[in-house]
Amino acid sequence: MHRNWCALVLVVVLPAAAADAPPRAALASAHPLATEAGIEILAAGGNAFDAAVAVSAALAVVEPYSSGLGGGGFWLLHRASDGRDVMIDGRETAPAEADRDMYLNATGEVDRDRAVNGPLAAGIPGEVAALEYLASRYGRLPLARNLAPAIRLARDGFVVTERYRMLAGYRADVLRRDPEAAAIFLLDGEPPPVGHVLKQADLAATLAIVAQDGARGFYSGNVAERLVAGVRAAGGRWSRRDLAAYRVIEREPVIGEYRGVRVVTAALPSSGGVVLLEALNILAPWDLPSMSATDRHHVVIEAMRRAYRDRADYLGDPDFVDVPVTHLLDPQYAAKMRASIDPARATPSSSLPPAGEPEPVGTHTTHFSVIDREGNRVAATLSINLPFGAAFVPPGTGVVLNDEMDDFSAKPMTPNAYGLVGVNANAIAPGKRPLSSMTPTFVETPARIGILGTPGGSRIISMVLLGVLEFAAGEPPARWVSEPRYHHQYLPDEVQFERGGLDDAEQAALRARGHTLTEVGRTYGNMQAVLWDRVTGAVTAASDPRGEGVPGYD
Ligand code: GLY
Repeated sequence: MHRNWCALVLVVVLPAAAADAPPRAALASAHPLATEAGIEILAAGGNAFDAAVAVSAALAVVEPYSSGLGGGGFWLLHRASDGRDVMIDGRETAPAEADRDMYLNATGEVDRDRAVNGPLAAGIPGEVAALEYLASRYGRLPLARNLAPAIRLARDGFVVTERYRMLAGYRADVLRRDPEAAAIFLLDGEPPPVGHVLKQADLAATLAIVAQDGARGFYSGNVAERLVAGVRAAGGRWSRRDLAAYRVIEREPVIGEYRGVRVVTAALPSSGGVVLLEALNILAPWDLPSMSATDRHHVVIEAMRRAYRDRADYLGDPDFVDVPVTHLLDPQYAAKMRASIDPARATPSSSLPPAGEPEPVGTHTTHFSVIDREGNRVAATLSINLPFGAAFVPPGTGVVLNDEMDDFSAKPMTPNAYGLVGVNANAIAPGKRPLSSMTPTFVETPARIGILGTPGGSRIISMVLLGVLEFAAGEPPARWVSEPRYHHQYLPDEVQFERGGLDDAEQAALRARGHTLTEVGRTYGNMQAVLWDRVTGAVTAASDPRGEGVPGYD
């Protein structure tokens, strides 16, 4: 009773002392030049939404393996003037000629090569439409001003790093198949050396057209003509009509509450928000920081398993299928899921409804977080799917196409590149948006406002979940982005962890409870986060030490 009274006093006192606007702007992105571009725009009088346009466009140039004009993404916005939270859905759509079985071979199996390599794998891109939409509806500066840093970077070049070389090496075989992509991203057929200045003249020209004509300059006219001609000549199914028909959609974010933290996160067609909140709902009654590491890991893994199972069964583009979001996020449903967790033993995924077999995971995508001095915020996760997307550039455009069609379920219960399975809810259909895992998220208490997200394919959601738990435990953003990671996605039925994610004793303790553990390669994820402490006034940004990103301030 007495403790409850204290808690009530705290809740009342803290907001009264809280500031209305941050004393400085902060930004964290996956590349120093993209952070620089955003800071330049903030310093020029742009707001967080203008900065988001500049950072997105710069990332399209300096991280051609992660996102770009040939891809899409989700921009989660908070507008300080009226408190509005909204998600800009710039996700790719399936072209009109797409059909459910387009990746099946003569024996009815998914042709993995066609599903991820070359223009047949590409959806109709949404990024350019989203950037124009952001600038014109929410920004303060003209689109052309926001695109200026990216045009400069494409024209003058950026310096190749180890990370670029690693990702270009990973996709070199596929990049070599397309002379246009190889000429831009390789040097004599190999990843260029560190220090090489990589210039993208065609991309600079395409960006300049968008700066002058807006999205019209990309979805119609010469650029559209070149995009469609290049795609069709190489076996893809785009048409001019698909490009002309592309529309950004404003969606209500998924909003929930976890132990006093308001969580505002991605709506469908990202699965991220629903899976994140379902897992948080399952975990809500447990005081995780006070539990032993093994007990905590066990229940978090079991919550992930159940939430990802529902991803496979129910989630898809809400404009095409009915998704029982209210049911999945109902506290009573969470209680039922929680009751099915044995505190001493792993639940075999096979005892939950069945699904398919896994494949190895490979991924790229990017995320940035920004807050301006007015308190406007953006959490944006953008993608072309695998590193260098479809590894295909329609001649004369400089635009790397996505291979986001692989985020559809090409065949029921057959895993995609991330080992994710799905059913009819995520089957391919013309105009439909493939289910995503991208999870740009805001976390809020009366005293603290956090912005976070990360790339990482199917593991995005579990990484954001671990980040939200750190925020809820009062940890700073440096901790959210750096903490060791582990993951369960229902199938494969194994706990995946990064190098150093679980120490030897912890691995043994989880095995003793019946968990199968797999260390996955090196480390994973590239989280970018911002925290505004409204009581102390501190604004801090943090970039994942696993990547090459940096925070910036204005
Ligand atoms: N392409 C990764 C995702 O959208 O989840």
